[in-house]
Amino acid sequence: MTTLTLRSPAKINLYLKVINKRPDGFHNLVTLFERINLFDDLSFVATQTGKIRLFCDHPQMPLGPKNLIYKAARLLQEKHSVDLGVDIKITKRIPIAAGLGGGSSNAATTLLGLKKIWKLFLSSQQLLTYGRALGSDVPFFLHDCSWALGTGRGDQIKVLSLKKRLWHVLVVPCKRLYTRDVFEGLSLPQDGRQRATNILTKKKYNVNILIHHLRKNDILGVSDRLLNDLESSTFSICPRLRILKSRLQKLNTLGVAVSGSGPSIFGLVRSQQEAQGLRSFLSQRYKRVFVVGTF
Ligand code: C5P
Repeated sequence: MTTLTLRSPAKINLYLKVINKRPDGFHNLVTLFERINLFDDLSFVATQTGKIRLFCDHPQMPLGPKNLIYKAARLLQEKHSVDLGVDIKITKRIPIAAGLGGGSSNAATTLLGLKKIWKLFLSSQQLLTYGRALGSDVPFFLHDCSWALGTGRGDQIKVLSLKKRLWHVLVVPCKRLYTRDVFEGLSLPQDGRQRATNILTKKKYNVNILIHHLRKNDILGVSDRLLNDLESSTFSICPRLRILKSRLQKLNTLGVAVSGSGPSIFGLVRSQQEAQGLRSFLSQRYKRVFVVGTF
């Protein structure tokens, strides 16, 4: 019985601009993904039973058909008439429903893991199609990259070859937020096309300038352009987050932003040491504080 163990990393969004609402209910956006060194581990063992069984000792982790890991495995079984089953053990470290992409990353890792242990012939394009069907953030995690630009609903990925490594202090306040509620709480201008034009012309809104600063190793230029359009909706659902943001801004951070649909908030700092100092301080008040870097 061979076990395949894979790391499943988290992400943060340095930039997330919402453009408009689409007829299918999703939102078009432009986002900059950064993969970070906060991981779950997924261990796969193929079985002869045909059953998908998940094992995890995290009390909030659903272990049935609602879990994206389960959905990913079921999708492959159905699409490829797989008779085999799988036991998947999950070591959960990425906070759940926190805007860090943990569920999406787990789904991507499951597609990659099962491709191997079930010996499936699957092209990258097929994997991406399955990824999209599972969630908007899944395609990013199917790419082996630290940085990527996401467009469409976040599922159209352009890999960026940037060498820059950033450090952050990441705080995850206890409350979970649901992505759908955060998107539903957005108030968008009616004319999406007009908005798209503004985004292309206004410098502050131009993600290419942020990427340019990353390339040039200009951390102040980067911190000045952190952006998340979901933040206002996140703050109205959970007003305490606004207080946390201004608390982080008053500390030794260069820039602060919510990641994805929150409630995770990160502060961009100059070094790992600075992030560690902030973690010691913030840990007195918050239970879940991490030092994370680009991975
Ligand atoms: O794609 P995912 O399953 O992660 O999305 C969860 C929910 O978040 C969607 O059902 C939708 O309501 C909202 N969403 C959106 N636009 C996006 C991504 C997610 O409206 N680009």
